[in-house]
Amino acid sequence: MIISVSSASGIEAATKRELLQLSVEKAPAINGRMNFEGDYDLLTKCNIHLSTASRIFIVLAQFKCTDFDTLFDNVIDIDWETYLPENAQILVKPKLVESKLNAFSATQSVTKKAICERLKKVYKCEYLKETGHQFTVEIAITHDFCTVLLNASGESLHRRGYRNIYGEAQLKENLAASMLELSVWNEFRPLCDLFTGTGTIAIEGAMKIKHIAPGLNRNFDFTHFKNYDNKILENVKSEAIGRILTQNLPKVEAYDIDEKQLNIAKIHAKNAGVDDIVQFHLKSMETFVSDKKRGVAFANPPYGERLEDRPYIEKLYRTYGKVRKANPDWCFYTITPVSDFERLFGTRADKKRKLYNGRIECCFYAHLGKPQTPKN
Ligand SMILES: C[S@@+](CC[C@H](N)C(=O)[O-])C[C@H]1O[C@@H](n2cnc3c(N)ncnc32)[C@H](O)[C@@H]1O
Repeated sequence: MIISVSSASGIEAATKRELLQLSVEKAPAINGRMNFEGDYDLLTKCNIHLSTASRIFIVLAQFKCTDFDTLFDNVIDIDWETYLPENAQILVKPKLVESKLNAFSATQSVTKKAICERLKKVYKCEYLKETGHQFTVEIAITHDFCTVLLNASGESLHRRGYRNIYGEAQLKENLAASMLELSVWNEFRPLCDLFTGTGTIAIEGAMKIKHIAPGLNRNFDFTHFKNYDNKILENVKSEAIGRILTQNLPKVEAYDIDEKQLNIAKIHAKNAGVDDIVQFHLKSMETFVSDKKRGVAFANPPYGERLEDRPYIEKLYRTYGKVRKANPDWCFYTITPVSDFERLFGTRADKKRKLYNGRIECCFYAHLGKPQTPKN
């Protein structure tokens, strides 16, 4: 089968790096998707282990398509009965980009009709009850080329299962994991989340330190596919559980001045199984001075979306810049849409890339630490 992994704009490189760890060497990225050959074992591992991806799909068909007859004929030819049980609820989501077929609801209903016709014939029934699990079929038509995808993950992979309370302006878990992947940080370097809020960066980092697979505590649609053997999931999960580390682990530091946010962060850290290694401090980040060498600090500071917030943001970002000066061998990674961030922070970034925090276009700035001077 062809497996297709989607990830948000700007973080494909991070997902590719994780795919390499699953021995997927070639997965060219096209329109935010990476396609490669695999079996259910690999599909399961992708869902359990990829911390940066959005969803995993199975590609069921690819064809040129400029009219509804072609769409219907190709969709009815797919062996839907291999995956979907007789009582499946079917949701069709078209994604139409610069194509002759540009009517959302007509594309949706033609596709659904073709799937239902096929299933009614195979299951020998007059109508489908659709009382069972809901499956999502994506019809992506870009420049008249159609890809039919069956969503294997279900809800987005950023939903790990540890966030049960929503705070203010929290990052999606897969964006936080991507920031870690796109940085120089690794589990052997000290880590600090300077504006931790509900704790997303600190928790994702701690999960990486403990080798806790991001998908261990959630459900997936593929377990409801008719031809899926749940023993595969059991094996992948027990192998992942066997890799979890519990002893002699470094601590992750996390700062915030808002007690309410920190209390949520503590609950999330406990839910994620990392409360033993995350140290939350109810303190301003300006007090951060580390005796540890060559650490990596992450910042998702307030963005100050209202005009009247601007003086506060300027002062905060300038103070944040001083934290860097106080910790010269640390690297600092910052995500913010504030366009004059570098000026306020006081130094130009060594690297930057465009990332989206939800719908907000941000820049992810890397300020690398000063190299250590060798002792003679
Ligand atoms: C955009 S939110 C961070 C959200 C976080 N990344 C998450 O996923 O939940 C910014 C956070 O910075 C905190 N903050 C503001 N000023 C601060 C300061 N001087 N030191 C530490 N934290 C601060 C706020 O309380 C808020 O929780």
